[in-house]
Amino acid sequence: MSGSLTPTALARLLGQWHLGAAPAYRELADVVRLLVLDGRIPLGTALPSERTLSATLAVSRTTVTAAYASLRDQGFLSSGQGTRGRTCLPRSAAQPPGTEGTAGAGLSGAPGLSVPDGVIDLAYASLPASGEVVHRAFAAALTELPALLPGFGYDALGVPALREAIAGRYTAIGVPTSPAQILVTSGAQHALNIVLRTLVARQDRVLVEHPTYPNALDAIRAAGARMVPVALPPAPEAGWDIAATEAALMQQRPKMAYMVPDFHNPTGRLMPDSQRRRLVRAAAAAGTVLVADETLRELNLDGGTAAPLASFSPAVVSIGSLSKSHWAGMRTGWIRASEGMIQRFAAARTTMDLGGPVVEQLAAAHLVRDLTEPMPARLAALRESRSALLELLHGHLPQWQPERPDGGLAVWCRLPAPSSTALTVIAPELGIRLAAGPRFGVGGVFENHLRIPFTLPPDQLETAVLALRSAQARLDASPQLRRTLRDSPAVAIA
Ligand SMILES: Cc1ncc(COP(=O)(O)O)c(C=O)c1O
Repeated sequence: MSGSLTPTALARLLGQWHLGAAPAYRELADVVRLLVLDGRIPLGTALPSERTLSATLAVSRTTVTAAYASLRDQGFLSSGQGTRGRTCLPRSAAQPPGTEGTAGAGLSGAPGLSVPDGVIDLAYASLPASGEVVHRAFAAALTELPALLPGFGYDALGVPALREAIAGRYTAIGVPTSPAQILVTSGAQHALNIVLRTLVARQDRVLVEHPTYPNALDAIRAAGARMVPVALPPAPEAGWDIAATEAALMQQRPKMAYMVPDFHNPTGRLMPDSQRRRLVRAAAAAGTVLVADETLRELNLDGGTAAPLASFSPAVVSIGSLSKSHWAGMRTGWIRASEGMIQRFAAARTTMDLGGPVVEQLAAAHLVRDLTEPMPARLAALRESRSALLELLHGHLPQWQPERPDGGLAVWCRLPAPSSTALTVIAPELGIRLAAGPRFGVGGVFENHLRIPFTLPPDQLETAVLALRSAQARLDASPQLRRTLRDSPAVAIA
């Protein structure tokens, strides 16, 4: 929370911000807001004083004062008296995933979860806890805790009861697994970081689906790897472009391939078995470690069937999590791999942390033993919300082309123009928060896509879609505005 930006550094980030499409102060505020939303200006950064910034940008001081005031009003700049304002997010936007209120309030039946300042958050695709089930698991965990208190409490591999439960779950779905093949992690994102730390050195290549999950892209970037993106075909029924994946594997020989075959984020597609078989074969031939992120596997909305990727080869590394089936606040995930690989992962893990919290793991063991218990109610509510969202989009934004997902929590929607970032910048003024399409890709593409979660109950989805329609209308009324916002500095992953 202590960084600051010099006027020159901010001017560089702003690029060609002033195109005369709107009052200068508004253009300035819009682009700063975009930079904050995209993570190019980290949260907590002190912006330059009004005086120095107006001199550097060669605009009047009034312009900068008004821009800063607008950012303050919208919650993107703190208002310390006598000090330079620091960048921040509006209250609901700053909440961590899983706690943002409106998301799925109706799905869980949880009371009074609306976002305090009324902003509807469409940036996170996450649900509140399957409350009663999670609470019961914690109550049981507390009764089991005393037996473990005499131990040290450190276990880099995970609490044995949970490892057994996870191994049992894999065995039950056709992938025979022993507890020694399981490493418990603090969520799937932690799992991916452990895998990257173990398998990938700087400059190594990592194959990714394009689009894919933004935080995975972040982690791969942070590992210093070179991305090998393989585009998903535009037609959902085509699934994955396995021929292109085979070619990329053979030509580029990536160290690792990160795939989300089960209700892929953001498209919600399910990879058919025939494609899984070819993928596994091609990865083996290229010497590439195939990492399957199965975080969304339980969110099977249409009852599609596909065998877990690991059932096709013992070399596959699988990542799982309770975040989507139960609650992201569990912060509990896992890695399934060969025993030897698990030992390597455990060694890498201890460079980051020394194990997970014990009570959470004991509770997680109860949840994993009966993994599907909360799913029928969760899936029924999600199906209803998916239908509602698709109908609302069809009715209010007929030019938008949403893909109907097989599962997961969101709809990947093709826009009639490359305006995703512009919509994202305008959205907070209309009471919604969005994640722009380019966050799901490499190199600023997917400007003509938007991911829209259906984690809200239908009435709130209607409010959200009406706000999206207003945002679209604003852009339609001012193509110049769209250009200004789109051509703002390249979008990074927040
Ligand atoms: C594909 C994918 N992987 C990983 C995660 C993060 O999971 P966790 O909360 O277990 O870290 C998400 C969350 O949305 C996801 O969609």
